[in-house]
Amino acid sequence: MASKRILITGGAGFIGSHLSDELLARGHEVRALDCLSPQVHGAGCTRPEYLAKEVDLQVGDVRDREAVRRALRAVDAVFHFARRWASGRACTSWNSTRRSTTSGPRCCWRR
Ligand SMILES: NC(=O)c1ccc[n+]([C@@H]2O[C@H](COP(=O)([O-])OP(=O)(O)OC[C@H]3O[C@@H](n4cnc5c(N)ncnc54)[C@H](O)[C@@H]3O)[C@@H](O)[C@H]2O)c1
Repeated sequence: MASKRILITGGAGFIGSHLSDELLARGHEVRALDCLSPQVHGAGCTRPEYLAKEVDLQVGDVRDREAVRRALRAVDAVFHFARRWASGRACTSWNSTRRSTTSGPRCCWRR
């Protein structure tokens, strides 16, 4: 398959970072849109060490239309893995959890 530029939302997370490694190994370019949520990465995290250096990390929120617009520039395909950490605490904040997993993609599709 010809090389593609692929956006992964939540690309700095567990699934996204492993997917990045696999896509890079297959010759694709990878961009990640990730807010580096403190719940997942700890306070003040800038870029996780395990994230491949070839990944074009854009720090931003999938609920931010402008951040999504920038991240989608010249992209061929999108994997959506951004999600709020599903801890008991996050579950008490159902609206925020729902917005990360559903409004984010709606923001992409409406572009
Ligand atoms: N880990 C598993 O074993 C597993 C299994 C099945 C399905 N999944 C699904 O895969 C997806 C990703 O899981 P994971 O384990 O990689 O989660 P994770 O918590 O490791 O990664 C999620 C990433 O999303 C980012 N994020 C959170 N809210 C965001 C927002 N509003 N905008 C941008 N980035 C945001 C976080 O900073 C984090 O880097 C989830 O939907 C999960 O349900 C995971």
